[in-house]
Parts: sequence; C-alpha cells; structure tokens
Amino acid sequence: MTRVFSGVKPTGHLTLGNYLGALRRWAEVDQHQADALFCVVDLHALTVDHDPARVRRLSRQAVTLLLASGLDPRRCTVFVQSHVDEHARLSYLLECVATDGEMRRMIQYKEKAAREQARGGSVRLSLLTYPVLMAADILAYGTDEVPVGDDQTQHVELARDLAVRFNHRYGHTFVVPKATSPKVAARVMNLQDPASKMGKSDDSGPGIVYLLDEPEVTRKKIMRAVTDSGQDVVHDREGRPGIANLLEILAACTGGDPEELAGGYASYGALKKDTAEAVIEALRPVRERHRELCADPGFVAGVLRAGAEKAQERARPTVDAAYRAIGLLPA
Ligand code: TYM
Repeated sequence: MTRVFSGVKPTGHLTLGNYLGALRRWAEVDQHQADALFCVVDLHALTVDHDPARVRRLSRQAVTLLLASGLDPRRCTVFVQSHVDEHARLSYLLECVATDGEMRRMIQYKEKAAREQARGGSVRLSLLTYPVLMAADILAYGTDEVPVGDDQTQHVELARDLAVRFNHRYGHTFVVPKATSPKVAARVMNLQDPASKMGKSDDSGPGIVYLLDEPEVTRKKIMRAVTDSGQDVVHDREGRPGIANLLEILAACTGGDPEELAGGYASYGALKKDTAEAVIEALRPVRERHRELCADPGFVAGVLRAGAEKAQERARPTVDAAYRAIGLLPA
C-alpha cells in the first residue's frame, strides 16, 4: 500500500491556502487510498522567533482543524512531531549527508532569512537546517508520496536527493519519495497581493482567509480582493494574477475548471460574490466540526496519544536501520 506523509507547521492560524493546497486533499483522497500519516510539525515552529504558549495553542488548534477537515483517526494517523523522537534522531544523520551549500540554496530559507535580517533579528541555525528535519519527517516513514502545495516541492526534492545519496553511500535504507500537488489551487495567493503566496505566518490579515474566520469576515476579505486593471474575466496568471487567483479558489471550492468558469462572468463583482459564497460554504462544515471538537478535548488528546504510538512503531525500524547503515554501534 502506498505510504503517504504530510505535515503542517503551527506558526499561525491555518488558511484557505493550507486547506485547498493540502488538508482537503488529505481528507478526501489520501486517507482513503493510502496508509497515511499527518503530522503537526511543532519542532519546525521553533525555527523562527516564537512564543512558547502560542506554539502550544496553535499546535492544539492545528490538530483540531486537521480532524475538523475530515481526517478520521480510524483511517489515518494524526500526531504531533515532537511526540515521536525518531524525527530528531534521523535529522542529525541526514545533516551528515546534506551539504551547507544545498541548505543555503533553499528559496524559503533565503526569503525568511532576508525578512528576519531586515527586521534586525538574528537567523536561527535551525532555519537553515529546517529542510533536513523535513526530509527526516518524510524518510522516517518510508514515504512514497508527499501531498503538498507548490511552495514545498523544493523541500521534497531535497528529501529525494538525500534519500538517494544515503542509499548510494550506505546501502538501501530509504524509499525515495515524490511530491504530489492538487490540479488547482496548488498556490493560493494573498488577496491583497496576488504576487505573494497566502501564508499563515504573514502579517497582512486582510489578504488572508483563515479557516476560522467568521463568514462575514471571509466575505469582506474576498469582496475587497485586489483585482487587476481591465474588465473582462479571463484566467491569466501572468497578466491578471488577482482574477486568476479568485478563479482558482472558486474552481477548487466548486470542483470546476478556472478557464471554463472565467467564461461565465461578465464582471469582477459577480466573480467575487460567487467566490465568497463558495469559500464560505466549503469552510462551513470545517468550522462546525471544529466547534464540536473544541468541546471534547479528551477525544483530541486520545487521538494524539494513539497517533504518536502508531507513528513511532512505523518510524523506528527505518531510523534504527539508518543508524546501523551509517556506522553507529547498535545499542
Ligand atoms: P506549511 O505549514 O507552510 O503548509 C502546510 C501545507 O499547506 C500548503 N500551503 C499552501 N498550498 C496552497 N496555497 C497556499 N497559499 C499554501 N500555503 C501553504 C503547503 O504547501 C503545505 O503542504 N515545511 C512544511 C511543513 C512540513 C512538511 C513536512 C510537509 C514539515 N515537514 C514533511 C510535508 C512533509 C510547511 O511549512 O508547511
């Protein structure tokens, strides 16, 4: 059976981008077709300036939203990264396989490091090595497929490279994984700045639809989305990025095709109105289940306990094998 692994980082409230690019597919497709593990990767949230209480709160909220999005613990494994030691154990070995230059070429590192430096902050070493920890997350589970949005494909490529290099040097140990991404909405853009990704750790609230926004707030954000000069509705990512983004969001929420949908609109206003309604309807069940789950913290805690146990059982043999292969004395 295909093994699937993916994760979400608790550095902010989850967004429509996370949902359309990742969560929804995990729930609708992956958990039904594969032996799938989904992880709130809390160790990754420590790579930038952080508040411990906020990381704890956001981790709990992310787990609850994964379940609210439809992940069923009877069908897949839901857990928190720091509950399973194998991630950190393997990460160190992979640091001994990765190179400094490889890390510095990662686009997300370059962007985030530049942002931290512009703020006058320092860059944590863990921000540089983050993709190695992500590779460890993936490789520890013998993962075949990693369902992610477009922004993570470079990191999954690195995981592939490290797996191939490790296997070549030390003998076959890891499955070489591949990224999969959705046909539409693999990169949902910020509604106020359609040249940038809708990212949960960004500060620009008006351009980001959060899964837990009230419907009225969502409607306002979409109605106020920045559009392009021009009148006709066409799907042109380069020339009309704002409209293309709305068409992709609408297509993802209604199961349509962005090009075909474009033909049905004579004005930007009508497109915005339908997109807002489609998003509100898509998120309604998630918000409702989230409310129910918040009333049952014991259930969520139980899912995490069982999830960590199952995840560790799956990861340990591979990580132990990697320790032996690389030359460490068995305990
Ligand atoms: P994170 O937490 O930034 O995002 C979680 C998932 O949501 C997708 N995503 C988007 N998709 C479309 N449009 C957007 N605007 C958008 N924003 C986010 C991401 O591509 C991702 O699939 N490094 C990862 C977390 C991670 C991970 C892993 C993922 C750590 N270890 C192992 C897969 C496998 C991250 O920061 O995702």
